[in-house]
Amino acid sequence: MNYRYYIPMLNLIGRGVIREIGCEAFGLHGTNAFVVASVGGVGESQARMVSEILAEAGLRSHEFCRAVPNPTVSVVEAGASEYRAAGCDIIVAVGGGSAIDTAKGIGILAANGGSIRDYVGTNKSRQAMPPLIAVSTTAGTGSEVTQFAVISDDADHSKFTINDWHMIPSVSVNDPEMMLSMPPELTAFTGMDALTHAVEAYVAKNSTEVTKAKAYKAAELAARWLPIAVKDGSDIEARENMCYASFLAGTAFNNAGLGLVHAMSHPLGGMYNLPHGLCNAMLLAPVIKFNIDSAAGGYSELAAAVSAGKQWHSERENCESLARFVTNLAREVGVPDGLSEIGVKRGDIDELAEKAMAEEIGETNPKPYTQDQVRGIYMSAY
Ligand SMILES: [Fe+2]
Repeated sequence: MNYRYYIPMLNLIGRGVIREIGCEAFGLHGTNAFVVASVGGVGESQARMVSEILAEAGLRSHEFCRAVPNPTVSVVEAGASEYRAAGCDIIVAVGGGSAIDTAKGIGILAANGGSIRDYVGTNKSRQAMPPLIAVSTTAGTGSEVTQFAVISDDADHSKFTINDWHMIPSVSVNDPEMMLSMPPELTAFTGMDALTHAVEAYVAKNSTEVTKAKAYKAAELAARWLPIAVKDGSDIEARENMCYASFLAGTAFNNAGLGLVHAMSHPLGGMYNLPHGLCNAMLLAPVIKFNIDSAAGGYSELAAAVSAGKQWHSERENCESLARFVTNLAREVGVPDGLSEIGVKRGDIDELAEKAMAEEIGETNPKPYTQDQVRGIYMSAY
């Protein structure tokens, strides 16, 4: 298969790299930065910190601290109007996947106009967006390196995915010092998201030797360091290794695609406004079990990556070990045991399954599936 590989132009990873963004913004000819952060005190202080760093490099800033979890159409469109009114020429996003996805939506609208819904699908924009520096403060979503943004409808909470190579940030930033204050629950959910990206990308239909190498290492790092980062958030070595896990998994899935876990977690997160990583953490093991007959070789290799597999065991046994490992890891980092425990109603499962079938993100799943089978997987996670 011919191979294409998308990645930001520059990727900064390590302790204190946040302090380099002023220099990079200046290098991208930015003079007036639109700083996108999450709503609330944490987002506001992150935006202030970014503005101060940019000011040292001579840039002005306009702060937009309105990104919400599961970013909405209305916030993205309000951000685009504010961007134009403020006369900005570069975007700096700081936060988790929500802040970065909001910034991507704002950038696409700022350059192309219209409604964000016009860009649902693949490569619908015509104009490149303003340069985007994406500073991740959670180790998991991978949004700082990808061409995807997931936006929610304000009215019915349904989610749609925009896949546009113009949205790949110019610069990605993963600074473990920015993650030290992340609470254990958020560390756990975003870390499980990173592990899910690695597992899904490894066996995805569009995986290649490059994406597999990245996904393998990401799984190995997440398996080893996530429990440590959750237990002791101040462990900078664990935080740094989770930065690498998230970065590697993000660049892997941006090019290989994802699968049924994400197709099923999007409607779940949309309908109940649940954290994305939590939904993935609860669905990953059931989907591995479902996919085994189509991805036994890949899962068996991943079992070795997370030190759950044994060379002398059969592929099937190692796949089952991988699923068990995921279940135990999720439990260890505090993920509830079943969907019933987080308020999912049994009566909604038919609708969830129907919506999951419409998710394009599932097209690279290694095994085809029917709505009945998806319903069955939700039930096994219940
Ligand atoms: Fe994800």
